[in-house]
Amino acid sequence: MSIALDVPAKLSHAAYGDCACGADCTFIQVGDRGLKCYNNSNIRDRFYRLQRSLAAKGLAPACDDCVEVKIDTSCGGRTVYAFWSVCADVACDVYATTNRSPKRLTDRDDLKDRLLRAGYSWLDIHDGNWGYINGRAVLIDVAGY
Ligand SMILES: Nc1ncnc2c1ncn2[C@@H]1O[C@H](COP(=O)(O)OP(=O)(O)OP(=O)(O)O)[C@@H](O)[C@H]1O
Ligand SMILES: [Mg+2]
Repeated sequence: MSIALDVPAKLSHAAYGDCACGADCTFIQVGDRGLKCYNNSNIRDRFYRLQRSLAAKGLAPACDDCVEVKIDTSCGGRTVYAFWSVCADVACDVYATTNRSPKRLTDRDDLKDRLLRAGYSWLDIHDGNWGYINGRAVLIDVAGY
């Protein structure tokens, strides 16, 4: 779901709740980019640095600018800490109806090998954590280094 965002970045609690999310990150898609949002600035900074270094090796989406996003709530609002990232086509969407595709396993294992060769152990292997950019498999969840 791609949404328009106010400048400076601001979003309703309901719209934020509709975005794709995992245990740590909520992803606000804005056009062909998105904001990877975290509740804590230290966690955001760590994931930002990791994604940047993996992106430089072609192993993760390119990312830039760290920003704060205001989430409107009934009790005044809160801040989440984000960085901009290029969007990937997430594997669980790509293979939603073709989960048994051999390409899925080949590409995932090849990504795992490329990550290992770059010194990264990919432990949290599931189809919500990797995807494709221009047909190339990349890691989208750099947690677990
Ligand atoms: N670069 C991206 N492009 C497209 N979708 C993304 C991107 N980054 C995150 N997402 C979406 O947001 C979801 C949560 O992101 P991510 O996996 O980074 O969060 P997490 O909280 O670390 O996840 P987990 O629950 O696996 O620990 C992903 O499963 C995916 O659907
Ligand atoms: Mg994840």
